Amino acid sequence: MNLIRRLPELAMAGEEWWFDVTRGVRTAGTAFLKDLTILSDASDSKLYMPVRPRRARQALRALPIRDYAEYTFIDMGSGKGRMLLLAAECPFRRILGIEFAAELHRQAVENIAACRGIWLRCRQIESVAMDAADFRFPDDNLVLYFFNPFGCATMRRVLEELRTSLKRLPRDVLLVTIFPEFEALIGAEGYLRLCRRLHRCHIYRAYAAGDFRPGRRI
Ligand SMILES: C[S@@+](CC[C@H](N)C(=O)[O-])C[C@H]1O[C@@H](n2cnc3c(N)ncnc32)[C@H](O)[C@@H]1O
Repeated sequence: MNLIRRLPELAMAGEEWWFDVTRGVRTAGTAFLKDLTILSDASDSKLYMPVRPRRARQALRALPIRDYAEYTFIDMGSGKGRMLLLAAECPFRRILGIEFAAELHRQAVENIAACRGIWLRCRQIESVAMDAADFRFPDDNLVLYFFNPFGCATMRRVLEELRTSLKRLPRDVLLVTIFPEFEALIGAEGYLRLCRRLHRCHIYRAYAAGDFRPGRRI
């Protein structure tokens, strides 16, 4: 009986183990940020916990885009880089991870270098060691991904920077939130509209600030 109740948990552990073993990487396990070296202020964040590969792939498949190569994928709070390697199963133009815990960033760099296999369809993958709140978005079409990285204070700063960046250069931007805890905050941003709702995943599209037309593709 106990075993039956534990089946979902065991399936998840097996999925994680398979992902790491087949790629020759180490992304599994959770870590409390209080035990790590944080490059700025950690008061708005708590935990490293990698995304479940199955959930990540569902989100990637649901993206309303025709050509991945027209987009840069950015994981805001990328930990050991599991999502970066999952995103690289799609032919994105470039993949960036923003991570402010030094140990996790170092592991991500090692994982990116070590990852083997036939899965990688994007080879431009980079982990950047910095606070997501200070990150300036590149001038590309973007897919921004958030899996419970931080609280509302940091998210407000990220959204403010996104608004400024889009005003300066309108372009197509998609936001993916897993376990959509930022619903109210994102909803309050007039230029972000929910375009896909999956089980525990929301996808928003940015509309040119002010006039609500989809951002111009660059
Ligand atoms: C729940 S984990 C998600 C890991 C990864 N994105 C994934 O989906 O597998 C959240 C990560 O966000 C990082 N993080 C939290 N606040 C951050 C911030 N302000 N800047 C950069 N990284 C942050 C944490 O260190 C942690 O690695």
